[in-house]
Amino acid sequence: MNSDCLSFRLFFITISLIIIFAPCRAADLTDLKSVESWQNVAPGIWSASLGDMQGELCYTQFAAAPPKHDVLNQLSKPKFPFAPGEITCLVTPDNKIMIRIPTGADEKLYGFGLQLDGIKKSRQVMTLNVDHWSKGGGRTHAPVPFYISSRGYGVFFNTARFLKIYNQVGNRKDSPHNPPEVDRNPPSDEKQPGRWQAQPPGDAVEAQISGNGLEVIVFSGDSMLDVVCRYNLYNGGGALPPLWGLGFWHRVHARFSAGQTRDELKQFEDKDFPLDVIGLEPGWMSKSYPCTFEWQKKRFPDPAKFTRELLDKGIRLNLWENPYISKHSRMYEKMYPLSASHMVWLGIVPDYTMPQARRLLTEQHHQDHISIGISGYKIDEVDGYDFWLWPDHATFPSGVSGEAMRQSYGLLMQNMLYNDLFKQNNVRTYGLVRGSNGAASGYPFAIYSDSYSHEQYITGLSTASLGGILWTPEARSAGTPREWLNRMQTVCFSPMAQLNAWSSGKKPWSYGDVTDSVRDVIKLRMRLLPYLYSAFADYHFKGIPPIRAMILEDGFGELEAKFIAGKLDSETNPYARSKIIEKTDQFMFGPSIMVAPFYESQSVKRQVQLPPGNWYDFYTGKFVGNNKTITVTAKDLADCIPLFVKEGAVIPMLTKAVNQTDKAYSHPLEVRFYGKTNGTFTLYEDDGKTFNYDKGQHRTRHLAVSKDQTGQFKLTENITKKDGPAMFGPIENLKIMTK
Ligand code: GAL
Repeated sequence: MNSDCLSFRLFFITISLIIIFAPCRAADLTDLKSVESWQNVAPGIWSASLGDMQGELCYTQFAAAPPKHDVLNQLSKPKFPFAPGEITCLVTPDNKIMIRIPTGADEKLYGFGLQLDGIKKSRQVMTLNVDHWSKGGGRTHAPVPFYISSRGYGVFFNTARFLKIYNQVGNRKDSPHNPPEVDRNPPSDEKQPGRWQAQPPGDAVEAQISGNGLEVIVFSGDSMLDVVCRYNLYNGGGALPPLWGLGFWHRVHARFSAGQTRDELKQFEDKDFPLDVIGLEPGWMSKSYPCTFEWQKKRFPDPAKFTRELLDKGIRLNLWENPYISKHSRMYEKMYPLSASHMVWLGIVPDYTMPQARRLLTEQHHQDHISIGISGYKIDEVDGYDFWLWPDHATFPSGVSGEAMRQSYGLLMQNMLYNDLFKQNNVRTYGLVRGSNGAASGYPFAIYSDSYSHEQYITGLSTASLGGILWTPEARSAGTPREWLNRMQTVCFSPMAQLNAWSSGKKPWSYGDVTDSVRDVIKLRMRLLPYLYSAFADYHFKGIPPIRAMILEDGFGELEAKFIAGKLDSETNPYARSKIIEKTDQFMFGPSIMVAPFYESQSVKRQVQLPPGNWYDFYTGKFVGNNKTITVTAKDLADCIPLFVKEGAVIPMLTKAVNQTDKAYSHPLEVRFYGKTNGTFTLYEDDGKTFNYDKGQHRTRHLAVSKDQTGQFKLTENITKKDGPAMFGPIENLKIMTK
């Protein structure tokens, strides 16, 4: 764990302990008491601790970096979003700590991490347990216990406990906000005085844990986006991947050898497909499931030479691993006493809250991988389902509970690899992780899943953006060429453009008919590197998610939702429940591009909701509408992904696509301009590889497009900060897209 961060957190926890919320002790509480111990810890951020925090794990302990107070201090100072005494708590007779946060009748709640089944979480009961697959009800790969409200505030339950949340579900008998009773079965001569509701709306979020203490952090801001930014900044800011991480990724088949990998690489070159990262799946290891983390010499006889050979071609290697250690690993004996009571995949489960365990793993990883140039990891199986992970009663040598370990294991792995391995060596990394949680915004790891619904994968891009996590809707295979193209297009507009062919063995060109269109979209991503890298810089320095849910856009409100009124049916719908089908199928990519991919039933034709403001077609610059819904077809777009651009957008791109990010350095730029009003863009540059940016070694180029006296749009460029190296080349041309 980062030591600055640790000392800050310890200080913070000590303060919290001093102000322990006395009325919430189990012994003297049978009913609601108001929470009064709110401490203003930064502008727009308040924390209160209930009960005894000693021995409780909080996610902020594992954040990548301490809060960015310098940035937070520049922000507005909104008021605490609740009236005094409005937030209450109690300890139940069976020792559960419960906090009750009031909500208004029309208030909508969003978030709770990577939820693939929808973005809106009002009127739901959720169990926030780390789980693979994301089947709904809260259990997911990254059940970040942070929600934002349409009223413009957010709440973070900073606890590594299982958390059960009743979002506006449940009616207290002492609440003045309950809806009136309605007789469900009035006699035929009486009119029903309103609609009987299977689920009468509740007036609060009630969250509970079984534990000794609970820290709750409230965020306020000028908008929902501002609330999300403050959450990210408080957790150390967003991740800034190396430039190569934003290129194209391809994972080869799990049993591929060095030779087979080499051959596949050659095909990328021959077929003119961009490629930056090759992912090796389990077969690179001498034994896997459980793992040794040592090279399988029959497949990779000289890993150092192989890695070097690839690096010389500009290709990075990413290694799959799960954390569970095989008897055949050379660290097994030493790790054994530092591991849990139970095994996973018959491998021991190290307790990575212990410095000795961290040292053992990172020394081995350094020696076998990092020293030869491995770029990062894919951390699998840290989200295991109840079957595959340790039971909740498993014990760990540090004394951390099995439950807290399950909630934070993915976070702990990111923390260890990022801080103890890569940061220590001043080399950036970008990788994957299958389980994460709160306070993770600073980690350059994208979450992925074995579930494979394209529609849900698109939803994931929005939900991830609300809780400081990155998500890749990776492509694996497809039933038809059209599906393949649609999936490849979505993934190219996500935090990580990855084809994961660990089992299917597919390549980007595996579906003949669409090969050119697939190549085009990967190349478009490469051309957009300057724009995308700056969007990630905004994530790091300002907390703005690079890929964002539409609800964070000004004036957008909600995506149109389809309300299907519940029809009583004693077998299939005995409570006449209604259904709301959300439309979470468009999202923002960087400051000004809105993406509306084709998918599933909308594979070649779909509707796009244009938020208020003028919007333009990315490819032609033509005005497409303002605050309305339009229909787009794959045919009209010549099989390109639907992209729309905001009024006044300035988009810096490479003049031509490159097949590797290394070639983007010093490459000349084209700046595109859309719309009729002036616009600006701040282009961010640094070395793209090290952490020197954290010491201020970066550069910004302010690009402004405005009309001159003759009414012509002109571009001016000013270098507003020049403390770091240049990254991209000179601007070669300004392309006015809207005629
Ligand atoms: C799965 C993982 C896949 C792939 C596979 C290899 O658990 O989600 O992406 O890595 O393991 O065995």
